[in-house]
Amino acid sequence: MSEIVPGITIIDASYDGASISTAVPAQEIGDLVVRDGLALLKGAFPADLLRGILDGVFAWGQTTAPQREAETSSHRIDERPVKSQTPHTFHSHNFQLCPGAIDAEMDTLIRPVFTAMRDLQNAVAKTNAGFEPDPAGRLMRPQVIQYPSGGGFFGKHVHPLEPQRVGLIVGLSEKGRDFNNGGTIFRVDNTDYSFEDTHDMGDIILFRYDLPHWITPIDANEQLDWTHQAGRWTMVLPYY
Ligand SMILES: [Fe+2]
Repeated sequence: MSEIVPGITIIDASYDGASISTAVPAQEIGDLVVRDGLALLKGAFPADLLRGILDGVFAWGQTTAPQREAETSSHRIDERPVKSQTPHTFHSHNFQLCPGAIDAEMDTLIRPVFTAMRDLQNAVAKTNAGFEPDPAGRLMRPQVIQYPSGGGFFGKHVHPLEPQRVGLIVGLSEKGRDFNNGGTIFRVDNTDYSFEDTHDMGDIILFRYDLPHWITPIDANEQLDWTHQAGRWTMVLPYY
C-alpha cells in the first residue's frame, strides 16, 4: 500500500481474465474504505481490454435509439434535464445482464468485466448482490457513462449507504487522449479529494457510498456534440 495522493490509499491490482486480484485482501480494503472513505486500485483492468468496451458501447449508443425507460438494456442522453434532483449532463448506457435483456454480442463484450466488478464489490462490501433480482427486487445495474467533452458533468450528490455500502468507479477513458480535463471529486471530513489526475483507464476508485461526490465539467471550453466519443467514460455498478 502506498499514498501518492495525500489521504488516498493506492493499492496495486490486476485482472486474470476472470477476477481482480488486489495486493491487499478485499476484507482489509473494505475496512479501509469504511474507515477512510476512499481507496484507489491501480491497474485493475488492462487498458486495451477496456478500449474494446469503450469503442463497442459508444458504437451501440450511436446506432440504437435512446429510450427514457426500458425493460431491457437501453441508453439515454441527459442534457441538464429540468426535473432531475441533481443537475447533470451525461450519456448513460444501462445494461441488464439477464437472458433476453441484452443482445448476445454486447453481453459477450461487457459481462466479463462487470462480473469481476461484481465479485470485487461483493467481497469488499460484504454483500451478495447479482445481476438477477433478489427476493427484495434489488439487483446490480451495470452502467457505462459518458461525460462528454463540451461540459459533461454531475452535480454534488450523495447516496444512501445501504445496501451498496461501497461504490466502484472504473476509469474507461484516458486523460490527454479521450478528454483533457475534469474528473471525480469526493468530500471527506470537509476536504475535497480530486481523482482527475490519478484515475487512469483501468483503475478503480472505491468509495464509501454515502460520501458527497461530483464530476466537474469535462472540457468545458469545447463544443458539446453527442455524436462524438470524446469525454470521460466510466463503468459503475449501482445496486438497488
Ligand atoms: Fe454517485
